[in-house]
Amino acid sequence: MSAREKWDARYAEPGWRMGREPKAVLVAAEPWLPTSGRALDLACGEGQTVAWLAARGLEVTGLDISPVGIEKARRWCEEHGVTADLRVQDLEVAPIEPCSWDVITCLHYLDRALWPAMAAGLKPGGVLVVEVLTEGSVKVGHARTSRFVAAPGELLAGFAGLEVLHSREGSTSASLVARRSGDSS
Ligand SMILES: C[S@@+](CC[C@H](N)C(=O)[O-])C[C@H]1O[C@@H](n2cnc3c(N)ncnc32)[C@H](O)[C@@H]1O
Repeated sequence: MSAREKWDARYAEPGWRMGREPKAVLVAAEPWLPTSGRALDLACGEGQTVAWLAARGLEVTGLDISPVGIEKARRWCEEHGVTADLRVQDLEVAPIEPCSWDVITCLHYLDRALWPAMAAGLKPGGVLVVEVLTEGSVKVGHARTSRFVAAPGELLAGFAGLEVLHSREGSTSASLVARRSGDSS
């Protein structure tokens, strides 16, 4: 089953919703997040992060491989009185424009090959918010395989070129809030 089929099926389950509240890492990132500018939410799912960022005043683009997820994200934004650019896109083939985003978020979607482009996609001074599952999440059943979980310290090492603003390594997840330096290098 492809990723698209898997997530479409999950999002189509009656009454199923991954989350309604912004993830804790977003709340932790709040002091560094701007209230205007462009934000990109990668693997946006049902749109709770997109809507939260848009409600802060950001102009948000949300990308996800699942058309069912994107449709749910559209409805979620409507219900919350915000607008966003929501698009079906496979992140394994779509490039991230370099130096283009004031904020990039990527929560619970792990594709290490995308990390350099995520860092490069930030404008100087732009803020990255990432949360990934870690090994303990497999034990408690949050992740089905080790393939999509990060090793201890991997997230920090993967974004070593950015200034760390907040970092947390828990047994089931790791999160990072980091900023690109203010010059244009
Ligand atoms: C665990 S969910 C996380 C959703 C959302 N970020 C959240 O925090 O609720 C993983 C998401 O990744 C999306 N996804 C999986 N493979 C993808 C790909 N190749 N390109 C874009 N999105 C993908 C799925 O459709 C799903 O919405």
